[in-house]
Amino acid sequence: MVKIFRLKHIISIKDFEREDVEYILDEASKLEDIAKSREISDELKGKILGLMFFEPSTRTRISFETAMKRLDGQCIGFTSSGSSSVSKGESIADTAKMFEGYSDALVIRHELEGVSKFISDVVDVPVINAGDGAGQHPTQTLLDLYTIKNEIGSIDNLRIALIGDLKFGRTVHSLSQALGLFDNVKIYLVSPPELRMPQEVLIDLNKTNVEYEEVTNIEDIIDDVDVLYVTRIQKERFADINDYLKIKGAYIINKKMLEGKDVIVMHPLPRVDEIDTDVDDTEFNKYFTQAANAVPVRMAILKTLIKNNPK
Ligand code: NCD
Repeated sequence: MVKIFRLKHIISIKDFEREDVEYILDEASKLEDIAKSREISDELKGKILGLMFFEPSTRTRISFETAMKRLDGQCIGFTSSGSSSVSKGESIADTAKMFEGYSDALVIRHELEGVSKFISDVVDVPVINAGDGAGQHPTQTLLDLYTIKNEIGSIDNLRIALIGDLKFGRTVHSLSQALGLFDNVKIYLVSPPELRMPQEVLIDLNKTNVEYEEVTNIEDIIDDVDVLYVTRIQKERFADINDYLKIKGAYIINKKMLEGKDVIVMHPLPRVDEIDTDVDDTEFNKYFTQAANAVPVRMAILKTLIKNNPK
């Protein structure tokens, strides 16, 4: 049976079935050689990707650009609200419609939840959510799952600790919802009490077979997990900077804590101080591999959406 990818847009990981995730991960495996050997395939020759980044980004934007270029496509766009006409008062809908006229797919990052969904309702080209406020970051989740599958061998039966800012961290929202599509997964939610996983995500997890437990100490769970998924405290989303200062540095992973453990360390990056640099040269470090995996996974996403939805 020929498999097809059902979705036109990638807005929320909640729109995915397990087979949609598997489709992208399989495509990414097929494209990995091109990404790793730094070659170019002509799959998207002549196509243009529109990058609308209203909020800062390094990895996400650069890896989308790299992915498009490895498929022989090109990119246009802006990297902050200040450098777009939104700063002159243009509406987001108008900016998006103009981009629709120039490009074959749009990648959106914005500080407000729901903006990518809104844009997908006003344009006719595929829209990819590259992070909307404290909401979702579905393409990061796909590359996280790709990394877990490559490093651990399977996503089923996974034992994972999500550590840090579970309240504002969009990567952990999408990742935990995606893990709900797999079998026999246990998630330890490790955060300070102020930064616990939002109720709406827990409600979603309750509807799945995922088992989860909220804990405050890494030491209590480190022997039980395959993956420590560490996140940055999202300073920019605190209304009062003093609340940030109180919990800053709450969790710091270092080499000594990891010695003798059968665990890998992942992080969507950027890191501030939550992983000591002494972990970088150890076998526990998978965060740079994870960042590199962004290219084949985003190649798979772009190839699939643009080929499935020709203009
Ligand atoms: C994350 C993001 O933007 O949500 N970064 C990324 O895309 N790799 C994580 C973060 O900013 O902490």
